[in-house]
Amino acid sequence: MVSSVSKTSQIPGFYKLSPLERLRLVKEFAGLSEEEASLIGSMKGLSLELADRMIENVIGGITIPLGVAANFLINGRDYLIPMAIEEPSVVAAASNAAKICRVKGGFTTSATPPIMIGQIQLTKVVDPHWAKMVILESKDEIIALANAQDPVLVKLGGGAKDLDVKVLHTMAGPMVITELHVDCRDAMGANAVNTMCEAVAPLIERKTRGKVYLRIITNLASKRLARAKTVADKAALGGSSVVDDILSAYAFAVADPYRCATHNKGIMNGVIAVALATGQDTRALEAGAHAYAARSGHYSPLTTWEKNEEGDLVGTIEIPMAVGLIGGATATHPVAKVCLKILGVKSAVELAQIMAAVGLAQNLAALRALSQEGIQKGHMKLHARNIAIAAGAEGSLVDIVAQKMIAEKRIRFDRAKEILEELKSAVKQT
Ligand code: MEV
Repeated sequence: MVSSVSKTSQIPGFYKLSPLERLRLVKEFAGLSEEEASLIGSMKGLSLELADRMIENVIGGITIPLGVAANFLINGRDYLIPMAIEEPSVVAAASNAAKICRVKGGFTTSATPPIMIGQIQLTKVVDPHWAKMVILESKDEIIALANAQDPVLVKLGGGAKDLDVKVLHTMAGPMVITELHVDCRDAMGANAVNTMCEAVAPLIERKTRGKVYLRIITNLASKRLARAKTVADKAALGGSSVVDDILSAYAFAVADPYRCATHNKGIMNGVIAVALATGQDTRALEAGAHAYAARSGHYSPLTTWEKNEEGDLVGTIEIPMAVGLIGGATATHPVAKVCLKILGVKSAVELAQIMAAVGLAQNLAALRALSQEGIQKGHMKLHARNIAIAAGAEGSLVDIVAQKMIAEKRIRFDRAKEILEELKSAVKQT
């Protein structure tokens, strides 16, 4: 049993503790205040008043579980990873993979600068290549106008840095697309980029005599990439044959988009769970990841897996990661703020790298489980508990009903109901 924790994310027996005991350890690890800890533990992190200011037509809120993945060692530093997700096994899988990866030093990560791309769609030009040259010649003027929209971002070292122009021949005629490259620093950047795109559009129209329609960020954040790599020790994985089995599972994903979609979904289980916990735009991340995976024209895995000279499994991930620490729900949602404190990240680029490492760990866990015992065994335990709860079991009855269904290999709602009735009538008779 664990009584205290130093700054290590290795907490043996963490999963056996009660939620409140776990919260106490996380509080100690991250230096949370009483108030911050109780905000999480109470499961009442967002008031109706605040929710009503975040989106429209609010009627309430939905709470999903917040777990913490242990064992993560990233660039030599220990992290406890908050993960918000409704799916069983994901947090445990991330923790297990991180434990395996620790043996050979954990994860090392890197990232590009936080550059997002904004698109300005110019139409109704008869000479699109001429227009492209005109826009390129006006680059400095366009960038200066874009930067005039956000002096704070510019002061922080961000802002519009460059632009590209491309001509598209579309079913609606030729279009000249200007792509503004904006360093968003610690913001996700959609607001900053969209404001800049809207501001420079009239200038582009004046210069080209065309008509601008769309002025919007692209979620294919191909210039805002996070990368992570790891060595998974062969013994810790379960032996050389497990390494080969995982490589075979990976080869399947490389060869087949149907498998690859699920391979990448597993990666996003980890990425999105951290994103949700920290108040990020999860849809933007999903869109960016899958579009990036398809950028060559062949939908491919976001990870790579190889065997090194020692026979260990080595993995990498490269993934667009449009995340921010300021603005959006990250800044307004009280629980997201506490989750960022648990992570102890100082910049959006650091958060992006952690999320890439979690994605890589999640993929390793999935490939290992799938190529060995399969995922259903672990899943079914939790699934059985959920079915028992749905059938009306409470307290200690949840585990009793679940275990009976597992033993019988009949994990079904109707069976859970029957077992509950049997138990209740047995109690009545005594
Ligand atoms: C389930 O949420 C995710 C997996 O299907 C991922 C994979 O197949 O690689 C287990």
